[in-house]
This record gives sequence, structure tokens and C-alpha cells, in this order.
Amino acid sequence: MAVGNGVTGKLTPLQVMADAPVIPVIVLSDVAHAVPLARALVAGGVRMLEVTLRTPAALACIEAIAREVPEAVAGAGTVRSAADAQAAAKAGARFAVSPGYTHAVGKACRELGLPLLPGVATGSEIMMAQEDGYTALKFFPAMQAGGLAMLKAWQGPFGDVKFCPTGGMTPANAADFLALANVVCVGGSWLTPADAVAQGDWARITQLAREAVALRA
Ligand code: 3PG
Repeated sequence: MAVGNGVTGKLTPLQVMADAPVIPVIVLSDVAHAVPLARALVAGGVRMLEVTLRTPAALACIEAIAREVPEAVAGAGTVRSAADAQAAAKAGARFAVSPGYTHAVGKACRELGLPLLPGVATGSEIMMAQEDGYTALKFFPAMQAGGLAMLKAWQGPFGDVKFCPTGGMTPANAADFLALANVVCVGGSWLTPADAVAQGDWARITQLAREAVALRA
């Protein structure tokens, strides 16, 4: 991975996770917000951006970031099917995040060369993802599915797996998760509050990103 003005080349899932302590989970309904939002996050030191496929504008937002913000790496979140993965790759997404795991999504991402962070919440799901070669996983929904205690329990049987807990992460609890040996980063929506995006308060988002980067001592 070349790091300078931009992140070039193909990434591994672990590189996606290790770039910053937090992967922002972004919901955008207006494509006009995509580029300034991405620039604001990059200015705060956060480059791996998960744009969720939850709005009609999502793919256009990924496309705009990929085209206009080379310092950022646009990824797609909420990837639930092979078709989602294909659409995301076509739009320029350089990684994918899924809320759960299916072999079909794993296979599609492998065929596309799209690094995937598969979502898991149980041991069986971890084993399914591992069977397909995935060892850098999203733990979702982290707080609801067992939080810190669950991650600690997984350190025994799944000591070779790394996690990005997502769901219920906050600036107050993120450091406790990041302190675990099997946690590389966390995911969260708090870096991109809907009101700040709507108001175009990019300075606030840059500040939130800066604070997130400082979470890792
Ligand atoms: C999501 O899917 O929306 C993410 O898990 C974000 O969750 P959060 O809003 O609790 O950070």
C-alpha cells in the first residue's frame, strides 16, 4: 500500500481495518454531500470510508468520492448480495462491508477482487467466513451481540481472527474495544452525524475524525 497523497493499489481487508482506529459508517441521501464529506474526513485523518448502500444515492456517492477524492478510499457498506458487490465495484468501491455473511457474497467479492469485511455475530458465522478465507471480520451488531465480553471469549477459539466491532460504538466506549488484542478498529456512525451532514458542517466532521484518530494511543 502506497501512502502519500492517496492510497493506491489493491488493499487487503486487514489494511482496510488498520488504516485508522475508526471506519465511519456513512449514510448519504444527497450526492452533493459526498465529496465535501469525504474531504472533511480525510482532513481529520480518516481515509477508509464505508458508504452504506441504504439510499438511492449511495452508488453515485461512492462514484463521486472515487473520482474526486483520491486521498480517500471509498468502500461500500450494507453489501447483502452478489449484485450489491458487483454494483459497488462498478461504482469504484475499493472495499466492501457486509452486515452478515453468505458464501455467495464472499464468492462475489473474491471474483471481483474486492476486499470484504464480512459481518459476523456467532462462532458459526466466523467459521463460515474462515472457511472462505476471511480472517478480518466485522463484529455486528457489537454491543447488542455481546460487546467486549464476546470479543474476549472469541480470543480463545478464534485467536487468529481480527475484528472491527460495529454497532453501538461511541467515543466513550471505543477505546476499551481498541485495547483488545483481537480488535484492529471499530466502525461507527458517530463521525458523520446526520445534522452535521445536512448543514454542511464539515469542520465538525473533521474534528470528530481527528478525535477518532486520537483514540489509538
Ligand atoms: C450501522 O449499520 O448503522 C452501523 O452498525 C452503525 O451503527 P452505529 O450507528 O451504532 O454506529
